[in-house]
Amino acid sequence: MGYEIIDNIWMELKDYIIKNNFLLITDENIYNIYKENIEKLTNNKSDIYILEPGENSKRLEELSNIYKALINKNLDRDGIILSLGGGVVGDISGFAASTYKRGIDYIQIPTTLLSQIDSSIGGKTGVDFLGYKNIIGSFYFPSRTLIDPSFINTLNEREITCGLGEIIKYGLIEDYGFFRYIGENIKNIYSRDNNVLSYIIEKSVKIKSSIVEKDKLDLGLRQKLNFGHTVGHSIESLFRYERYNHGEAVILGIIYETKIAYEKKLISREYYNEIISILRPLVEPVSFSENEVNMLLKYMKNDKKNKNNKIGFVLPTDKGKVDIFYDIDEEIIKKVFKSN
Ligand SMILES: NC(=O)c1ccc[n+]([C@@H]2O[C@H](COP(=O)([O-])OP(=O)(O)OC[C@H]3O[C@@H](n4cnc5c(N)ncnc54)[C@H](O)[C@@H]3O)[C@@H](O)[C@H]2O)c1
Repeated sequence: MGYEIIDNIWMELKDYIIKNNFLLITDENIYNIYKENIEKLTNNKSDIYILEPGENSKRLEELSNIYKALINKNLDRDGIILSLGGGVVGDISGFAASTYKRGIDYIQIPTTLLSQIDSSIGGKTGVDFLGYKNIIGSFYFPSRTLIDPSFINTLNEREITCGLGEIIKYGLIEDYGFFRYIGENIKNIYSRDNNVLSYIIEKSVKIKSSIVEKDKLDLGLRQKLNFGHTVGHSIESLFRYERYNHGEAVILGIIYETKIAYEKKLISREYYNEIISILRPLVEPVSFSENEVNMLLKYMKNDKKNKNNKIGFVLPTDKGKVDIFYDIDEEIIKKVFKSN
């Protein structure tokens, strides 16, 4: 489950290319931006599988084409998949690796902030099916995760926000000092200050992998990683995954779940203000109608964390600490959704 922070990813990949027993999977955007580097590594068309960018590529038909490319290249059980991309490329490549010839090695080379600090760590792979996200998948850890923070230089602002939501979450669930550091460095993150980015990426990866290490199959402790996600997922569903991307929805989720914690008197006014003041400027605010609040509640009632029909919320209880609660009054939830 090792990860490494790498200075020059293209040098690092050379070794795998020499053995010519690999398939590099990427998407069209990444291919176009890094064409020169990729073509210096290999110019052979059958070495590279290019997905269309976006969530829609995480599907069975695409997976079946990846299997065909692996068979076409005659990759044997010692072969390796090099997954160069964001979470979409990483999730489908990992699932292809976990199932082709009952499992071959794969290497994660995450290129978005979100994939560098979240999706490439933790061994979850999969595809979407019949409109359900990640419903077909496996736990399958890459043999290496190679993180080159310089990929962030070509990433747009919105994708940075997407990763930032999860990074702030790590601070709030595990390390208050880290949360403060992020709050003080928001501008540096958006201006892609390499030192700041390298620091927050490494710190985030450490936090996530230490939690995953204790709960590889997501049976309990990993629950805390879902802070912001009960509400976040319901907001994504309400807007049919169109208005907000995942990280933006998580930021809104953290805001509303912090409001619930404050209403429940779990945290002080001072801590509440601190969290809201850092998160509020990052995402376009939203106000919900009565009907939308009822829809959000309906989505939350289907959340995977629920127990005995009670909605499970991971809520802040102190600086850098969270816990899971199943006893939140529906009236409190409605009240916070109606506030701004
Ligand atoms: N496996 C897990 O544990 C886990 C965790 C969180 C999210 N996910 C999954 O991750 C996916 C989202 O990942 P994502 O946010 O990385 O999205 P993504 O893979 O769709 O990438 C976002 C966009 O950025 C582009 N891009 C990638 N790298 C770039 C770069 N360096 N420069 C410029 N553009 C670049 C991509 O082409 C794409 O258009 C979802 O499918 C989600 O379900 C998985």
